[in-house]
Amino acid sequence: MPNKSNHDANSSNATEDRITIKNLPVTSAETTISTAQLETLLETVSSLKHLPGALLPILHKIQHQLGYIPSEVIPDIAQLLNLSRAEVHGVVSFYPDFRTHPCGQHLLRICAAEACQANGARALMQHAEEKLHIKSGHTTPNNNITLEAVYCLGNCTAGPSVEINQRLHGRVTTTLFDQLTAGLITAGPINAMPRPDQC
Ligand code: FES
Repeated sequence: MPNKSNHDANSSNATEDRITIKNLPVTSAETTISTAQLETLLETVSSLKHLPGALLPILHKIQHQLGYIPSEVIPDIAQLLNLSRAEVHGVVSFYPDFRTHPCGQHLLRICAAEACQANGARALMQHAEEKLHIKSGHTTPNNNITLEAVYCLGNCTAGPSVEINQRLHGRVTTTLFDQLTAGLITAGPINAMPRPDQC
């Protein structure tokens, strides 16, 4: 677990590492993603842009790499795919799986689809929101936990289903939820850098 001093150092490095895209063959005025992330992003877009219906695979790939779709890069994606910004933004906002902000250190996803709802998923989500003091779709202020609703985890016969850092759990009661998350929830400040591998 990184400590506070590392966090300060990382924050400083992150600030120094922020770049402007204007020197690259794209049109965004400014972004807060790092140079390395941008280079990876551009490689991804370039390598996939010739696919039919390339936008979705590109967005999925970017989210897998960065953990989210930075709004700053939507104009660049639009230009490289010869789409409007509204078209790209519309796709990002239409699909609930696409995240527009980095997720917290731990990602909790509660299934809100029909079969799990029939087994108490709605009450479980309410319990999670009250316990974490955040609404679904949000991250705790210390960037510790992101709570999301998801629509089917492929575990319909054992609902309510919860995925915690990509690990699936079935028949999750409020008591089990508390047990599963007991070691994850940190109330105070933490050095929670985004973890794209779990987003
Ligand atoms: S409905 Fe919840 S896992 Fe399928």
